[in-house]
Amino acid sequence: MKINILKNYWELGEVVSDIVEHTLTLPEPKLVLPTGSTPISLYKELVNRDLDWSTTTTFNLDEYVINLNHPHSYNSFMKKQLFDRVNIYPDNYHFPFRPTEAFEDKIKEIDLCILGIGSNGHIAFNEPGSSFESRTRVVDLSEQTIEDNSRFFDSIDEVPKQAITMGLGTIMESKKIVLMANGEHKLNILNVAMNGEVTEDIPASILQNHKNVKIYYCE
Ligand code: PGA
Repeated sequence: MKINILKNYWELGEVVSDIVEHTLTLPEPKLVLPTGSTPISLYKELVNRDLDWSTTTTFNLDEYVINLNHPHSYNSFMKKQLFDRVNIYPDNYHFPFRPTEAFEDKIKEIDLCILGIGSNGHIAFNEPGSSFESRTRVVDLSEQTIEDNSRFFDSIDEVPKQAITMGLGTIMESKKIVLMANGEHKLNILNVAMNGEVTEDIPASILQNHKNVKIYYCE
């Protein structure tokens, strides 16, 4: 698969913003959004563009099993980075919740799904070994992910051990998928996932089976 290499982190935000901006012109657009450090330049750029989000519905890929008002919940992250800064209706943004079947019923006809990739090849919190058929569910986080995400918390002990994540099967039903990766430490896993064997050991490799995926990388 082609990996589009961009000049820098800000260009990554701009290029993916162009795709989001186009998607927002569709009638009642539906987006799936990521958290983490990678999409911050995207959200900054989207806020700067002053777009109309009033008819848009969004779903986040995942959420820790945590109080939603916790400063490090993905709910808090998204409000700070995007939702409190654009004209999206609070009723129109959603995070995976229990019962997960009820959440699954809501996510239909996704126009655009934006993903990051973890250093172990996870997408959302679908850790290595996740079934390609998986749906939204509660998962245990891997040691690697807990360690990677400890940088957002005061100590590693504070990182939640579980999350609710969209499944790989759920993600693959999106009409269009964009994967963003930032930093040299992601390059190897990105190459393996996009051009190596399609295997449940590397969850992101499932994207090789999707017809409409764009991959963007910057150092
Ligand atoms: P990052 O996380 O953007 O913080 O690197 C990506 C991911 O784990 O999916």
